[in-house]
Amino acid sequence: MRVIVLDDAIQISNEAAEIIIKQVNKKRDSVIGFATGASPVETYKRIIESYEKGEVTLKHITTFNLDEYVGLDRENVNSYYYFMKDNLFGKTDVDFEKVNFLSGQIDNIDEECARYSAKIRESGGIDIQILGIGTNGHIGFNEPSDNFADGPFAVKLTQSTIDANSKYFEAVGDKMPEYALTMGIGDIMRAKRIILIATGKSKAEAIKKLVEGEVTPACPASILKLHADVTVFVDKDSASLLGDR
Ligand code: GLP
Repeated sequence: MRVIVLDDAIQISNEAAEIIIKQVNKKRDSVIGFATGASPVETYKRIIESYEKGEVTLKHITTFNLDEYVGLDRENVNSYYYFMKDNLFGKTDVDFEKVNFLSGQIDNIDEECARYSAKIRESGGIDIQILGIGTNGHIGFNEPSDNFADGPFAVKLTQSTIDANSKYFEAVGDKMPEYALTMGIGDIMRAKRIILIATGKSKAEAIKKLVEGEVTPACPASILKLHADVTVFVDKDSASLLGDR
């Protein structure tokens, strides 16, 4: 696992976007795993800028997003589908036919999870997976637990995640859902390359556990240490608790 400490979110976004753009320019039908949340937003802005300058086309990529809230339809401003449309896909030439999401609006969760697993497999696997990290060390919505999940599953969100994300729902007078569907740790670990982005003091504890702690499902991100190609981009604040390296 490479840990790269940069000054701020802008520097991180330049580096992270370059990796993704290079990947897509090398293999135009790349399979990219996208994350939501504040962490990758600047990176998505850099990708949009490159697209606008004609430096990259996203027309041929296949996308898989990490997770989705249970109960939200795609047009809900707090759904992750809406987030991706608003922050990246809708501002580029991404082909929405090749956009894949776990659906938060289904009757049969097991069928939906099996469908998503099969889709990832059929795509040939994720070339680059982008990740943020929760303050409690979650990746996707794999919350601290006593085991690592392999494939997609439904999860009850922890209080720490609800505390971190409920502001987005309160802003539009909604209550945050208590459940989500998420890719499993196995799905994430099967990606060929992983980029994790973290900024701000609130992530410092999680980054310390990820980089210096043991591999444990109590800090789901810690398993990334066992992956052969992970780059962790951190700013000075999120790296502030790391010892000398
Ligand atoms: C969210 C998402 C994660 C995201 C993380 C951090 O709840 N499910 O995929 O990486 O929490 O979010 P943020 O980047 O907004 O801090």
